[in-house]
Amino acid sequence: MQNKVLILDFGSQFTQLIGRRVRELNIYSEIHPYNNPPKDISSFNAVILSGSPLSVRGNDVAHPELSEIKGKIPLLGVCYGAQYLAHFGGGNVSPSNTREYGRANLTYINENELLNKITVGAQVWMSHSDTIKELPDNSVKLASTDDVEFAAYKIEGEQTYAIQFHPEVYHTTDGKQLLENFLVHIAGLEQTWTPDSFVDTTVADLKEKLGDDRVILGLSGGVDSSVAAMLLHRAIGKNLYCIFVNNGLLRKNEFSEVLEQYEGMGLNVKGVDASARFLDELAGESDPEKKRKIIGRVFIEVFDDESHLVENAKWLAQGTIYPDVIESVSVTGGPSATIKSHHNVGGLPDYMKLKVVEPLKMLFKDEVRRVGASMHMAKSILGRHPFPGPGLAIRILGDITADKVKILQEVDAIFINGLKEWGLYDKVWQAGAMLLPVNSVGVMGDERTYEKCVALRAVESTDGMTADWVNLPYEFLQKTSNDIINKVKGVNRVVYDISSKPPATIEWE
Ligand code: XMP
Repeated sequence: MQNKVLILDFGSQFTQLIGRRVRELNIYSEIHPYNNPPKDISSFNAVILSGSPLSVRGNDVAHPELSEIKGKIPLLGVCYGAQYLAHFGGGNVSPSNTREYGRANLTYINENELLNKITVGAQVWMSHSDTIKELPDNSVKLASTDDVEFAAYKIEGEQTYAIQFHPEVYHTTDGKQLLENFLVHIAGLEQTWTPDSFVDTTVADLKEKLGDDRVILGLSGGVDSSVAAMLLHRAIGKNLYCIFVNNGLLRKNEFSEVLEQYEGMGLNVKGVDASARFLDELAGESDPEKKRKIIGRVFIEVFDDESHLVENAKWLAQGTIYPDVIESVSVTGGPSATIKSHHNVGGLPDYMKLKVVEPLKMLFKDEVRRVGASMHMAKSILGRHPFPGPGLAIRILGDITADKVKILQEVDAIFINGLKEWGLYDKVWQAGAMLLPVNSVGVMGDERTYEKCVALRAVESTDGMTADWVNLPYEFLQKTSNDIINKVKGVNRVVYDISSKPPATIEWE
């Protein structure tokens, strides 16, 4: 594919943001670790060097070979990237007298193509403790701030630029303009990477790659597997065999409703109700990890049985997305790159011998949603909260019975439907209810009760790695609690979880 940007990652916490900003300009970008660059560097039309927690003066300095890049492909060094180009290009990088973090303003601009349309006074975001004291050979200063003389510079005779600040963060107000100046006006890239163009090229690629082969895909009801299914459906139609397993631990009515929705989308989907099998296997088990393992194993058995019914299947499709496959640079543990493990339909038996196809593996989550929207998929699928694979099993603390599942499904439905009715659902990243293994005393009418307690949980987050509880309106909590206690037999107490992650987690098990 032409028209693409390579981002070499030196371990900055902002590297993924660079990737996103570039894509927001409708230009395709890929992130690769500095110590494991792609083989086909010359197929990239521009390169960006990210920031890093490392220092160019340190012993463990990241020192990639740039001979294929510098002077040959338009190059932009950001923060560490700028210091790297200075340090190894004949300049001088030293510790700065004051550590420079946060807001600064450009106080000097030497009119130039990189800072076109950006004026003195523009706010930029700094995050560095080294500073460039002397520029590398053949360089010209392009901008300064009060504290940073060489906030931007270029190397003459090359399309090589460097900036000390971070254009990718929101607080650099003209960051997007700067990236546009570099990528569109200097590197000459076309802004053609849109959800529509992604759908067109991906469908064409899938057609060519898969031909008349049969493909199996496990649908979960979530956004990623659903969008992956739609792309494949457009490419190969009935040769896509979707399998949607009911493990008996889904939300209330979810199996039938989602199955109907999939059928309405024209998908060749088979719903497999294996609830009884899952609940049988889980009976009496209360250890969270053992519950997860049982569910994982039974899922694979059911999926395996079903996929054997599809004769001559050659491929297994997965809804893997980009954050699952970006190799992360470990700056503390040496230059070893680790790949995060996939969590989708992981661990399928070897004997299935299927080739894997992952149409979304270069997209971020918000891009998956936009691609789904460009294929006119329903908002009720695209806007869905994340839901764990083991489902309600890890929200029923202790052992699982059909009765407990039923109680929790009712409680969860009241909570989630309430969030939707009150216009709160889209403001919350994830929400659900936990059935606690405690009974507490209550009074209903004139009678003493001794019944179950449920905890409601609603969090805001971007990726589930950290999360904070949501300040839901008291009136909403009051109504929800009343509805639950009045309508769900067996529950006499509702609490709201006000713990952040860390130190708590989102799920209770
Ligand atoms: P925790 O509880 O670790 O959850 O803060 C973070 C996110 O991961 C989801 N989660 C799971 N997803 N299988 C999954 O597919 C699991 O075993 C699992 N455990 C937690 C959780 O719902 C949240 O979105």
